[in-house]
Amino acid sequence: MPNILVDKELCNRCNLCASICLMGIIQPSSDTDCPSIPAANEGNCMLCGHCEAFCPKQALVLDYLREEKLSYEEEDSRVAPENLSLYMRKRRSIRHFKPEPVDKDTIGKILEIARYAPSGGNSQTVQWLVIYDTEEVKRIASLTVEWMRSIQGTPHPLSPYVAHIIRGWDLGLDPICCKAPHLVFAHLPYSEFIDDRTDAVIALSHFDMAAPAFGVGACWAGFIRMAFDSYEPLREALALQDKRMIGYGLFFGYPALQIRAVPRRKTLDVVFR
Ligand SMILES: Cc1cc2nc3c(=O)[nH]c(=O)nc-3n(C[C@H](O)[C@H](O)[C@H](O)COP(=O)(O)O)c2cc1C
Repeated sequence: MPNILVDKELCNRCNLCASICLMGIIQPSSDTDCPSIPAANEGNCMLCGHCEAFCPKQALVLDYLREEKLSYEEEDSRVAPENLSLYMRKRRSIRHFKPEPVDKDTIGKILEIARYAPSGGNSQTVQWLVIYDTEEVKRIASLTVEWMRSIQGTPHPLSPYVAHIIRGWDLGLDPICCKAPHLVFAHLPYSEFIDDRTDAVIALSHFDMAAPAFGVGACWAGFIRMAFDSYEPLREALALQDKRMIGYGLFFGYPALQIRAVPRRKTLDVVFR
């Protein structure tokens, strides 16, 4: 486990790092020493990096992927609220796509943003599966329709709703992935005791929000997620490692249509106590 490397010239021994450490493992500075993590505490570091992120002098670095450390000035990173408000509110579920693929470099840039999403206990267990091959996307959509056929007439809660989806598919439409060229799944460890997909959904939300900045549009692939839980052939097609499950997925590509307005939503329902 890493320790912190402190630049003794820069450190003013304010000990903010020690007080901000969620795990309380940083020993504050003494008359002679800068703050440090005692060896006995190293195993308890959750790598959140708050010690270095909040250091007012940028005097310390967590000894972990040091080359990736990114310092910045607040004014360089500020986004005007009105810009952020429009950017976030104009995000739409995209269901009409150009056939051309999104290049892998662009997908990589979106994933690079999404991998900074928060995770419970900073566990960072989310991994990504990109189905890049459009034929494979079609196969996954078709397996999802197969699953829908299999639940018709059963007590499954979706059963009453699948008939029109199947009909659409049989007519050559794609109600599952809307003929998107790609799919992205965030997957995470499966345990029979914990069925918590939150980290994956948060990470995908970051993907969903970042994508439009690259000209890419996405939509949540709810039917595939449902099918994954109970349809073995789909699980086989996605071929995740044992003990990993799909948190959720998005189908995505370059939007074929331009969006020109923000639709209305229910009025804000909030209670302050
Ligand atoms: C958890 C979740 C699952 C969804 N599943 C699907 C889906 O399987 N197919 C689809 O076309 N849209 C799906 N959507 C998109 C919603 O229909 C969409 O978010 C909603 O109609 C609002 O539209 P907007 O995203 O453009 O604001 C899903 C959205 C969420 C959040």
